[in-house]
Amino acid sequence: MPTITVEGGRVLSGTLGVRGAKNAVLKEMVAALLAPGRHRLTNVPRILDVDLMADVLRHTGCVVEFGDHELWTEVPDQVDPVTPIELVRKMRASIVALGPLLSRCGEARIALPGGDDLGARPIEWHLDGLEAMGAEFDLVHGELVGRVDGRMRGAEVELPFPSVGATENLLFAGVLAEGRTTVVNAAREPEIEDLIDLLNSMGANITGGGTSLVTIEGVERLHPVEHDVIPDRLEAGTYAVAAAITGGEVTITDCRPAHLRMELRKLEDSGCQVERGEDWFRIEGPPRPAPVDFATLPYPGFHTDMHPQMVAFLSVASGVSVITENLYDARFRYVGELARMGADISVEGPHAVIRGVDQLQGCPVLAPDIRAGAALVIAGLRAEGVTEVGEIHHIDRGYEDFAGRLASLGASIERSVADSTPPGRP
Ligand code: EPU
Repeated sequence: MPTITVEGGRVLSGTLGVRGAKNAVLKEMVAALLAPGRHRLTNVPRILDVDLMADVLRHTGCVVEFGDHELWTEVPDQVDPVTPIELVRKMRASIVALGPLLSRCGEARIALPGGDDLGARPIEWHLDGLEAMGAEFDLVHGELVGRVDGRMRGAEVELPFPSVGATENLLFAGVLAEGRTTVVNAAREPEIEDLIDLLNSMGANITGGGTSLVTIEGVERLHPVEHDVIPDRLEAGTYAVAAAITGGEVTITDCRPAHLRMELRKLEDSGCQVERGEDWFRIEGPPRPAPVDFATLPYPGFHTDMHPQMVAFLSVASGVSVITENLYDARFRYVGELARMGADISVEGPHAVIRGVDQLQGCPVLAPDIRAGAALVIAGLRAEGVTEVGEIHHIDRGYEDFAGRLASLGASIERSVADSTPPGRP
């Protein structure tokens, strides 16, 4: 099994450009299903999840081709509305194909995603919203079978919580629906705004992107699109924390610091110096972080997908930090791995108390999910000796050449020789 090996103690420095956002591109790939023809996305990250989503699209009959950080999707007139369990198991985000397939084909058959590394992750809000728009669902031997008689119908849907995936499925259902759909308590994530920009470029009529009230006037048809994917705020934030834990100074370019407001503010509270431009920021880490408290919340709150990286950073703080995880019931699984490195963290329900230690120690650890995997590598940058991170396919899902890019900033890090090539297209 491939691993990432990191020897702690190097101070990171230099400049790093951010790639396109995983959580935007995956949905933007699926959006192509809404219109036959040839679509093009640029600023596409070379990550495993993009490869998996390409397989989902191929399964429906699309032809997907990769170039240098770009991809083309040729969508046929007739799409096969099926996503099998092998693909859904590998990538739960396949569930966002539900909306486009129902809109385009009047039918969708997608294996029901169970829970995953982060917990139960139900999808009832997606289904309730789509039912309000005329769809009916049955569970048939583990497969979710959705049907709609004619076109989807506009409706007012109030989400109990601003779910990213449910908002996206409602957008996909609403764009080709008959009449107006309003989504109340919609998710406001920048990736959703970017998806709305893409859909509007395809001929959709959506207003209110970036607010919690999104209005979609259904149109008869959409056309293929070219779109540049928004920068990945999570990738930018992850490298910022990596630089900070080493006391280094790194400039992150091709990003939008405005999308990382809360996370950068917490880094400043911990003693980091941050200078910001419109599409770059420079971060300088303190010799030792001060403790800070935070709670994860939907955007613009502190992002749950920055939580493990920040906890790795705070594990060497000069005092006690208290954090609250509000999104995922199983997000703390990585804490045991950090404890093996000498971190002192106790978890009680959604709260973790992190008592900063003077020094972490390198040892073999396993990545339980994408962000926790990144966090363990980050901890290894500060640890004494060598940290070997296994199960790095999780990291590959969301980060392009994580080890290589950290090495470019001066980290002593390598991917095991047994599998020296990270996945992703040329
Ligand atoms: N939820 C329900 N019922 C539903 C839908 C959601 O209870 O019907 C709950 C979830 O269990 C979770 C919360 O609501 O506790 C938020 O879930 P949301 O639907 O917003 O998340 P998602 O669409 O499944 C996306 C990202 C995640 C990111 C979350 C929150 C993608 C592919 N995934 O998931 O990203 O953590 O939004 O911002 O966009 C990652 O990139 O590492 C990752 C996990």
